[in-house]
Amino acid sequence: MSHLLLAFIGVLAFSPHVLGQDTFDWNKIKPSEQLTWTPCNINFECARLSIPLDYNNPSDRTAAIALMRQPATVPTNSSEYRGPILFNPGGPGVSGVDMIQGFADSAREMLGPQFDLVGFDPRAQMKTIHRSEPFHHGPRASFFASQAERAQLPSPRALNASDDAFGWTYANRILQSSLAGARDDGSLRFINTESTARDMLRIVQAHGREKIQYWGFSYGSVLGATFAALFPNNVERLIIDGIMDPDDYYSTSWMRNLWDTEKTWNTFLDGCASAGKDACALYAPTASEIQAKVDAVFQQLKTRPIPAITSLSDSTPSYHIVDYSLLRQTIFNAFYKPYATFQQLASAIHDLSLGNASALYEMSVEGGIVSPPYLCPANASEVAHEEFFNVQDAEFALGCNDGATVSTDYSDVRAKYEELCASSPWCDAWPVRMNCLGWPEYLKNNKTLSITATTSFPILVISNTADPVTPLANGVKVSKAFAGSALLTQDSPGDEEIEFLIASVSAF
Ligand SMILES: *[C@@H]1O[C@H](CO)[C@@H](O)[C@H](O)[C@H]1NC(C)=O
Ligand SMILES: *[C@@H]1O[C@H](CO)[C@@H](O)[C@H](O)[C@H]1NC(C)=O
Ligand SMILES: *[C@@H]1O[C@H](CO)[C@@H](O)[C@H](O)[C@H]1NC(C)=O
Ligand SMILES: *[C@@H]1O[C@H](CO)[C@@H](O)[C@H](O)[C@H]1NC(C)=O
Ligand SMILES: *[C@@H]1O[C@H](CO)[C@@H](O)[C@H](O)[C@H]1NC(C)=O
Repeated sequence: MSHLLLAFIGVLAFSPHVLGQDTFDWNKIKPSEQLTWTPCNINFECARLSIPLDYNNPSDRTAAIALMRQPATVPTNSSEYRGPILFNPGGPGVSGVDMIQGFADSAREMLGPQFDLVGFDPRAQMKTIHRSEPFHHGPRASFFASQAERAQLPSPRALNASDDAFGWTYANRILQSSLAGARDDGSLRFINTESTARDMLRIVQAHGREKIQYWGFSYGSVLGATFAALFPNNVERLIIDGIMDPDDYYSTSWMRNLWDTEKTWNTFLDGCASAGKDACALYAPTASEIQAKVDAVFQQLKTRPIPAITSLSDSTPSYHIVDYSLLRQTIFNAFYKPYATFQQLASAIHDLSLGNASALYEMSVEGGIVSPPYLCPANASEVAHEEFFNVQDAEFALGCNDGATVSTDYSDVRAKYEELCASSPWCDAWPVRMNCLGWPEYLKNNKTLSITATTSFPILVISNTADPVTPLANGVKVSKAFAGSALLTQDSPGDEEIEFLIASVSAF
């Protein structure tokens, strides 16, 4: 899974470079109510846990979730052993199994030898799932009959890119929701955060414990907070990191994400100005001069896109047209991990000003904003494998099932967009609320869970001061909702606190 669609569909998550590559054949493991660990992917162990598909009818059908762990390096019978920590990488819907493979080594360095580091796939994730057996393996979210069909529906452009970009996105989302309904195998409605929180309790109990140890990022903060609100007495140690406002999420508003985005952008401008010519290709003595250079590139691209011809992974040339929209999206995507991307971004924008779009295109592919051209596999088993690409579908399924119904009234949708734009100049890269337009209606559980509690151990809330999508204000708010919780702030840009911990200390 190397080409996730991340920022532009609103995924709040670890980025592809942090995710591992899972090559394990999960069908080898029969799901069971006990955790039976099987060695997999060299340094890991895998298991599949049976869970009720529907917690309101637990004896009805079962489903299975995939787990992967890096076991503690102290013996489990030693006094140092401290049990499992569950991780969630965000999304919603991103695979915790992929995450733990990419993240376990740095987590181990930070946390020490005494914990099992456990990634699990949230409901909606597909990796363990065989198409013909949805209930035994599911629930799954996959709206497309094949990867080829998926490739026919292009990704939306930045919402201000042209006169029809907004309306085009509206239509695209209606279409996608209609596909979601048409392709539902009956399990779609059981994909939601409350059930995922219940799944987590099952995972903890299957470890022979009653209380959770958990670290969740971005959307993982909603999952963690929901768990804490549902099961306040089952909290051992719980960290939520990069905070979404649960009320904003559950009301499908997506209005409280962009309050600090401009701060992230300003760290780009200021960082470039102070980094000097050698470190920043867009260098000018002041931030406003650098802004002017970028504006000039935007201005040009708005009417004159630039062709890109480049070689991606192998020597096959790849062709694309880099336009205004792609630049907006690529910049926004870079905000998630400034330490890894800002220098490259400055250089790519500089190249654009010289008429060379290769580097920007390559960044957009690396960031998962555009997929490389779809090539039909010659081999049927690869076709089957391709069907498992569903990160975007998983995000839609969780977000739209969790959230209140979004009215399809066009002027209402537009008005909500204008409201978002009043909060940030980056609103055109944040179409997330539109994801749920026309989402299938089935009987929703209307009771709203109040995300507040006095937990059996105080929770830890972590926020960055210049986070592009999970602003500090949300950390302040959520921390107030949990008695005794502490708010730890880190003075840095980006949505991946971890990136800061393991990377250099300057974005340039
Ligand atoms: C822990 O288990 C191992 C393997 O079963 C055994 O050899 C060892 O003596 C045990 N240690 C303690 C402290 O019980
Ligand atoms: C465009 O930039 C790339 C580096 O990103 C370079 O390899 C390529 O030669 C440049 N193309 C032209 C036509 O200068
Ligand atoms: C088809 O693809 C599968 C999975 O990548 C591979 O194991 C198999 O060898 C391929 N078969 C042929 C005939 O290339
Ligand atoms: C995008 O459009 C919105 C709504 O009309 C407007 O408020 C905002 O300034 C525009 N932003 C950009 C970058 O064009
Ligand atoms: C939830 O609210 C909707 C709209 O008000 C209503 O149609 C539906 O029956 C309600 N669902 C339940 C489970 O009460």
